[in-house]
Amino acid sequence: MANIERDGFGSRFGVLVAVAGSAVGLGNLWRFPYMVGNNGGAAFIILYLFFVILLCLPIMFSEFVIGRRTQSNAFGAIKKIAPKSGWLSIGVISVVASICIMSFYSVVGGWTLEYIFKSFSPDFLTSDSTSLANQFSGFSQSSFMPVAMHLLFLTLSALIVVAGVKNGIEKYSKILMPMLFILVLLLAIRSLTLDGAGEGVRFLLYPDFSKITGETMLAALGQAFFSLSLGMGCIITYGSYVNRKENLFKISFMSAFADTGFAILAGLAVMPAVFAFGISPGQGPSLVFITLPQIFAQMPFGSIISIAFFFILLIAAITSAISLLEVVVAYFTEELKMTRKVAVVVTFIIIGLFGTFSSLSQGPLSDVKIFGKTFFDLFDYASSNVLLPVGGLLVVLFVGWRMKRADVLDELTSGGTIALRKSLFSGIMLVIKFLAPIAISIVLLNSIF
Ligand code: PFF
Repeated sequence: MANIERDGFGSRFGVLVAVAGSAVGLGNLWRFPYMVGNNGGAAFIILYLFFVILLCLPIMFSEFVIGRRTQSNAFGAIKKIAPKSGWLSIGVISVVASICIMSFYSVVGGWTLEYIFKSFSPDFLTSDSTSLANQFSGFSQSSFMPVAMHLLFLTLSALIVVAGVKNGIEKYSKILMPMLFILVLLLAIRSLTLDGAGEGVRFLLYPDFSKITGETMLAALGQAFFSLSLGMGCIITYGSYVNRKENLFKISFMSAFADTGFAILAGLAVMPAVFAFGISPGQGPSLVFITLPQIFAQMPFGSIISIAFFFILLIAAITSAISLLEVVVAYFTEELKMTRKVAVVVTFIIIGLFGTFSSLSQGPLSDVKIFGKTFFDLFDYASSNVLLPVGGLLVVLFVGWRMKRADVLDELTSGGTIALRKSLFSGIMLVIKFLAPIAISIVLLNSIF
């Protein structure tokens, strides 16, 4: 089944950093801390861990199984197993969701770039939150700069993807991911050694279970999904580049562990500082662009910390953006027979254009609404609340009910070379067939109603 011509990952470390690179992104450093802040701290984290282990890991196995079995892009993979069937919608959802996510992800990536540049300016950091809020809205609502920054971010990501899987994605992930880890660790140490940091640690470690509601549970499940890059063909695509001998269990466990570790480390980098400076943890999405600079302003060497932080955010966003781009590029090259270069250019044009609308919808186009939402909110909503859960649901149903059980076992044991207890396999299949579809349906119904 292996195709010698096909590009792929060259080593286990390469697979790991690439998958972890896709998972660790704005979802960990920007979304996770404010979700924890909004949803009661440690109790939310415990629920999150529970969902990652019980539901996300089986979904990740499922995506890896489909990808490696077929050695194809997300659409081609489904086509090989179930041609001319409704299951092909998984492939369509993957490509559409990638484009939708990138159309706002790249805009936030552009903001991150701008904030690196801003951090070099001596009058950027101030402890006056109104001035920081004005700075943020002044920039993000203007026409030219945010669009230029979005296109610059997209260009950086596209340049990596055009170089291919082994020479682009794997090579840069190997450099960027360890760098990211060291920088977040340093930032966490800085934050933990501030006077009054203990309150923030308490917030992250001591659960208050009375804070758990149905809403919190759904928020934790949704966050786990987005953070692990599940439900939109990304792991199918990366799985197709994984060597036949590689242990898919190990890779899934290690990537999920790395992603969760990064999320907690990001929490430790942000929350102690938030508490040390007496700021409310439930600030929401503006936490990173408005609240954190306010904190940096009050720290010694604040400008350097600010540059480091936004640089970290940029690296994390780029290694995720390349995985989103690869889903589309792999589809264009394998299904529409484009060369990689042409595929990247076409993808760039599509996302460049949609991203421009999404950026302008923060300011000049804020009155243009589709289904009552601006372009930015529509791309965010359609992907996170509709396409991702539907995609994830279809993936587990596909592996549980459409694929041959023997083929799934064959992939999970790498052709019988890896021992897997029968009871464990049956347990996993049970989750894939019943538990996961039911749980995802609950998330989906919640987001619709
Ligand atoms: N997991 C990324 C993050 O946490 O920022 C976002 C993401 C990447 C979602 C790739 C989906 C995906 F396929």
